[in-house]
Amino acid sequence: MTRVLVLNGPNLGRLGTREPDVYGRGTLEDLRLQLEEDAPDDVLIDLRQTDDEGTLIGWLHEAVDKRMPVILNPAAFTHYSYALRDAVAIVTDSGLPLLEVHLSNPHSREEFRHTSVVTGVATGVIAGLGFDSYRLALSAVLRRSGS
Ligand code: DQA
Repeated sequence: MTRVLVLNGPNLGRLGTREPDVYGRGTLEDLRLQLEEDAPDDVLIDLRQTDDEGTLIGWLHEAVDKRMPVILNPAAFTHYSYALRDAVAIVTDSGLPLLEVHLSNPHSREEFRHTSVVTGVATGVIAGLGFDSYRLALSAVLRRSGS
C-alpha cells in the first residue's frame, strides 16, 4: 500500500467559497474524492490542510520518516517561507518525489506570486489547471514511486 500525502497550506480550507473565479467552486473534500477515484486500489490518499507553517513542516518530516511521496500546495507560503523550502529539500534529498502544485497560474497574477522559494527544491511543479494540477501530480508521483 502506498500512501500519498496531499498537503495544502493556508486558506485552502476555504476552497469552494474563496475567490471562486480564481480557485473554482470545488471544495477540498471534492478534491479528496476526485483523487481517491483516480488512485489505483493499492494507493491511499491522505489529504490534509493547515494554516500553520510549523504543522506543514512537521508533515514533511513525517513524509521522510514514513517514506511517503508528497503533493504539496504551499499556498502563500510558496512565495516567502524559507523554512518550508528547507523542509521540502529534506524530502527530495531523501529520494522521495514531491510535486509542487497550484490551482491558479501564479505567473499570470500579482508580481509577488511570480516567485516560488519551493520550486528550486521540488521534483516538479504543475500550476494553473485547477484540480487537474493535483490529478496530474498524483500520476507523476506514483510513476516516480514505482506504484
Ligand atoms: C495558490 C497560489 C498562491 O499564490 C496563493 O497564495 C494560494 C493558492 C494556488 O493554488 O493557486 O493560496 O497556491
